[in-house]
Amino acid sequence: MTERINQNSSNNLMDVSSEDLNKIILVTGGAGFIGSNFIRYLMGKYPKYKIINFDKLTYAGNLNNLSSVEENPNYVFVKGDVADNRDVKNVFEEFNPNYIIHFAAESHVDRSILNPDIFLKTNVLGTQILLNHAKENNVNKFVQISTDEVYGSIEKPISCLEDSKIAPNNPYAASKAAADLFVRVAHQTYGQVVNIIRCCNNCGSFQFPEKLIPVIIGNALNNKEIPVYGDGKNIRDWIHVDDHCKAIDLVLHNGKSGEIYNVGADNEWQNVKLVEFILDELNASKNLIKFVEDRKGHDLRYSVDSSKIKKELGWKTSIDFDDGLKQTINWYKSHLDWIEEIHSGEYLNYYDKIYKDRSVETS
Ligand code: NAD
Ligand code: TYD
Repeated sequence: MTERINQNSSNNLMDVSSEDLNKIILVTGGAGFIGSNFIRYLMGKYPKYKIINFDKLTYAGNLNNLSSVEENPNYVFVKGDVADNRDVKNVFEEFNPNYIIHFAAESHVDRSILNPDIFLKTNVLGTQILLNHAKENNVNKFVQISTDEVYGSIEKPISCLEDSKIAPNNPYAASKAAADLFVRVAHQTYGQVVNIIRCCNNCGSFQFPEKLIPVIIGNALNNKEIPVYGDGKNIRDWIHVDDHCKAIDLVLHNGKSGEIYNVGADNEWQNVKLVEFILDELNASKNLIKFVEDRKGHDLRYSVDSSKIKKELGWKTSIDFDDGLKQTINWYKSHLDWIEEIHSGEYLNYYDKIYKDRSVETS
């Protein structure tokens, strides 16, 4: 069942008058890492837009991430599940959104290896249910937030173009690739206006400490071992979340219907080098690094070519990665309470399950 939480009783999301003010945007998964950064970004830049944050509040969803906007009359939070047709129907009936930006997903590869089923349900079925309602309600545009992981592991020096082969190697990547194909079909079969954005690994504030960067920072601050999978030579391209938000903004407003846009930062790091850099920044000992059993099906390298979004939409990165990373480290250092709240309950069970059998100290 959907549950509407709206601290502001004067809120009236239907009260729109001019063409310029008529964007009612359903942001799914807005209580997660990228979604919450995007909502703050969008509300800062377009204060007249009406934002409905539709989120199930799984372990990864946290309304504290949005405390800075929760009183804004143009923002409302609705608790609901994208994979539940009734929940999605209700939110459409109540708010009649005309744009959808679809972040909601089970997003962590390690969890997908343990339990693929929920990835299929949320990421694939959830996307199709949203597309059904988008069609029925003549939504102006559906933006799918996908990932560079759909292309699979890419040998150096190749970078994938938008029409490169889809070759996912883990259940998370497979579910995102499948969802992308249903988004494509919505356009090809029904003429729905859609875009797909495939971005590289994001770094920034409010990222749940199951992903590499917040694991490194959180563990180092607690003087705990940092588990590095395999030989640590896997490569990821890292972008600051604000640069991803800028790309989404451009695609939302100017992306040509049916198009896919890759978003990469040309900022490749071997995992172990990134760990060492962060430990240096924190003045923490490199002895905390613990090489552990590799992830199953671990992709060696992701790499996308972003020429298309640069050329067509004028996007480029604007945040120097070292600066963005330092800013992120400082954010975590000054939000120890945010980390502490997560470092309990469900997180401890998860941490134990993922790392104990790899012989990492878990207590
Ligand atoms: P996250 O795990 O931090 O947040 C996911 C959010 O979705 C949470 O708020 C969660 O409560 C919500 N959610 C999960 N299942 C739901 C459901 N059934 N119904 C409604 N809400 C649900 O994820 P993130 O890192 O912010 O990623 C957001 C999107 O960006 C995902 O689609 C992911 O595939 C994509 N992406 C992430 C990265 C990255 O580096 N984190 C890179 C590229 C693409
Ligand atoms: P992650 O942040 O989970 O993102 P993704 O797998 O979606 O790219 O992991 C980034 C890289 O870091 C990946 O190669 C796996 C590796 N990794 C570790 O070595 N140790 C860890 O504890 C985690 C979470 C990831």
